[in-house]
Amino acid sequence: MSTFYITTPIYYVNDAPHIGHAYTTVVADAFARWHRLLGDDTMMLTGTDEHGLKIQRAAEENGVSPQEQVDSTSVLFREAAALMNIANDDFIRTTEPRHHAAVQELMQRIYDNGYIYSDTYEGLYCVGCEAYYTEDELNDGNCRIHDRPAEQMVEENYFFKLSAFADQLLEYFEQTNGVVKPDGYRNEVLGLLKQELRDVSISRSSLSWGIPVPWDDKHVFYVWYDALINYATAAGFGADDAAFEKWWPNVTHIIGKDIIRFHCVFWPAMLLAAGITDLPKYYVHGWLLIGGEKMSKSKLNSVTPKQLIEGDGDQGFAAFGVDGFRYHFLRDPPFGPDSDFSYEQMITRYNSDLANQFGNLVQRVITVTGKKCGDVSPAPSADSPLAAVASEAYEATAAAWERAQPPIAFDATWRLIRETNEYLAANEPWKMDEGADVDRVMGDALEAIRIVTILASPAIPEAAQRTWERIGMDGNVHDQRLPEAAGWGGYPGGVALASGDPLFPRLKG
Ligand code: ME8
Ligand code: MG
Repeated sequence: MSTFYITTPIYYVNDAPHIGHAYTTVVADAFARWHRLLGDDTMMLTGTDEHGLKIQRAAEENGVSPQEQVDSTSVLFREAAALMNIANDDFIRTTEPRHHAAVQELMQRIYDNGYIYSDTYEGLYCVGCEAYYTEDELNDGNCRIHDRPAEQMVEENYFFKLSAFADQLLEYFEQTNGVVKPDGYRNEVLGLLKQELRDVSISRSSLSWGIPVPWDDKHVFYVWYDALINYATAAGFGADDAAFEKWWPNVTHIIGKDIIRFHCVFWPAMLLAAGITDLPKYYVHGWLLIGGEKMSKSKLNSVTPKQLIEGDGDQGFAAFGVDGFRYHFLRDPPFGPDSDFSYEQMITRYNSDLANQFGNLVQRVITVTGKKCGDVSPAPSADSPLAAVASEAYEATAAAWERAQPPIAFDATWRLIRETNEYLAANEPWKMDEGADVDRVMGDALEAIRIVTILASPAIPEAAQRTWERIGMDGNVHDQRLPEAAGWGGYPGGVALASGDPLFPRLKG
């Protein structure tokens, strides 16, 4: 048994979740569910990033305290995860005491190892923004937001010796064994590492909403250096050594390409500086765009998961349900490149793959079996032509997951659905007389459905479980173990089937 620890970025709580966040979280959840099917000891983590100037400002604008701001917004991310049927094992908030303790412990180790030093930071500072700007970012020396002169400021800051780790990081990312997937992003990381790595300022003395620097409490850590440590906190760093030793060597961070530098340059350098030599693996994806622009909370083009799952009449959005929502994000956007979010594509995909291909197959097989095969279901035949199709579908699905390509994995699974529909169309069991021939065809179709249901469960967990029960299988589809459970012949036959409402009612475009 292997161990698999997958994390999402922790999201900023300056505003509510949108489908850009949903995308990352659903994909991470599907990876976790796939690994649970493989029998891996799996942990999935998501959470919220709650410190820093951005949050402090949002609180000021909303006329609430920073604590009130983070409490009321973090819960929206937790609720969105529940709504999307995310089976996360933990939800971390950076304002939790366990995280304060882990940040202070990890940073203290880096400090004790001699990789943090104090220096003066000089620059042009806008007090309105509480931020440093370069000449270029200012308008004739004036802050573009506050339209007043930035002041020359000198601040005592702590710096991290990033430059000390350039060679070790290069060596790590030059490996071609899947440290970063897809591989194109590995090249991007190598490009960043080949530039000069300058030491980075990791503390602020002008801000109070953060985690105090343990050796100098006039400072708090700059939000990014606190945030990255969340992944170690949740694995038990500094609190539960056995847990940390178990999870940490098996961690994969799933991230959007916007945060590559922090995750692939700063974070592994911090780990090395703290004496932790196991470095993370990464699955990196591109942006979902709307009309060619990145979706973001600060733009008005945000669409929320709730609007698409439950429907929103005002916007003309149909109710995709949780499985319809998840399936789109796992099947349509290619994993890696940017892609335009398309409502029309979402409708088309739902109607074709879920309503027509999957939903109709299940409905039809249960109906025909009920009419032609008596009270209990037939068993599959050992020499079915679908047996080879099923085994190829399993192999291709598993290989695509291994390459971190969920859209290709589900395409491979759906090949078995399409072939089963064709098998039925070719044999026309609804025209056959009762007897061995129709029993054989329907037993084969039920077995194909059983296998499909397992392989599709990371995308459509609810419909998969309902289907599992309708074809008379015991227990929980999510407790099946691959590869054994995908082997042909696992459907016992002799069980009662149950029909029910359409699994995926057709949606109007
Ligand atoms: O960066 N398309 O938080 P954040 C695809 N707190 N993915 C998107 C997206 C889009 N249009 N918009 C957001 C932060 N995402 C930090 C992270 S981690 C230690 C700290 C997803 O709220 C994507 O995964 O801005 C991106 O990397 C993440 O949300 C950024 O979320
Ligand atoms: Mg962002």
